[in-house]
Amino acid sequence: MSALKELAYLIVESDHLEQWEAFGSQVLGAEVARRADGSVRMRIDDHAYRFAVQPGDREDLFAAGFTVANDGALAGLETDLRERGIDVQRGTAAELGARGVAGLIWFRDPEGLRIEAVLDPAISCTPPRLPLVPGGFVTGDQGCGHIAISAMDLAACEAFYRDVLGFTLSDYIEQHIHGMPIRVAFFHINPRHHTLGIAGVPAPKRLHHFMVEVADLDAVGRALDRAKAAGTPLAMGLGKHPNDQMVSFYATTPSGFAVEIGMGGLEIRDEQSWQVRTYDALSEWGHGFGA
Ligand code: FE2
Repeated sequence: MSALKELAYLIVESDHLEQWEAFGSQVLGAEVARRADGSVRMRIDDHAYRFAVQPGDREDLFAAGFTVANDGALAGLETDLRERGIDVQRGTAAELGARGVAGLIWFRDPEGLRIEAVLDPAISCTPPRLPLVPGGFVTGDQGCGHIAISAMDLAACEAFYRDVLGFTLSDYIEQHIHGMPIRVAFFHINPRHHTLGIAGVPAPKRLHHFMVEVADLDAVGRALDRAKAAGTPLAMGLGKHPNDQMVSFYATTPSGFAVEIGMGGLEIRDEQSWQVRTYDALSEWGHGFGA
């Protein structure tokens, strides 16, 4: 079992803050706020924010934040990481304030992605304003969604998330594209089928996509309409994944990676009966490029 309970937030670094502001409100349907430091914050549920875009030229994920249960769990994780020889930093008061958390440690995965383990992320008693997504987003004990990242050395990355951080393997997909096998490993830390997907492919960005889940097919269809109306390029059209059964499409964000907007994601609530499988295709149907 992992000390990390759920995906709390994502921090993106981008030079395209105005485009992100428009994308967040018009395509994602999030409540978007521009802050004094120029950053953009997006709400989709009771958390003060779930996605933040800070100024910078990376156009990629800067950090993924995961919630831990309590002080003891955070201290235990820090000790365990140090004993394994992993460099761990404690968040400064300024970092805690910027993130809106009560505690924070951070470290890097084998290929440099900054992982933040945090305590008590700020919750807002004011409901989020989501007029374009009246049914809201599926979060709660499943966290704010999932991320799919690339890895040059899939085995080493898998070992880190599984053996060091305690993620549980959900399944694999291995699809041959132009004769080359593309292997993707999926991991969970809560009932969401996967909070993390790792593709064993070299890629220009570490983040391939992040996913937000909406309540029903109508909400996916309306998001697709909004993406088309906004002129947003689609990375992949409507389709369905075989493993988490999610029906979704992928819109290209202003940073060039994608956001998957989907519904119907499978929940793993009985670990004892869960069987790890390897599927031979990323999609049961659809998800055509640029469709
Ligand atoms: Fe995904």
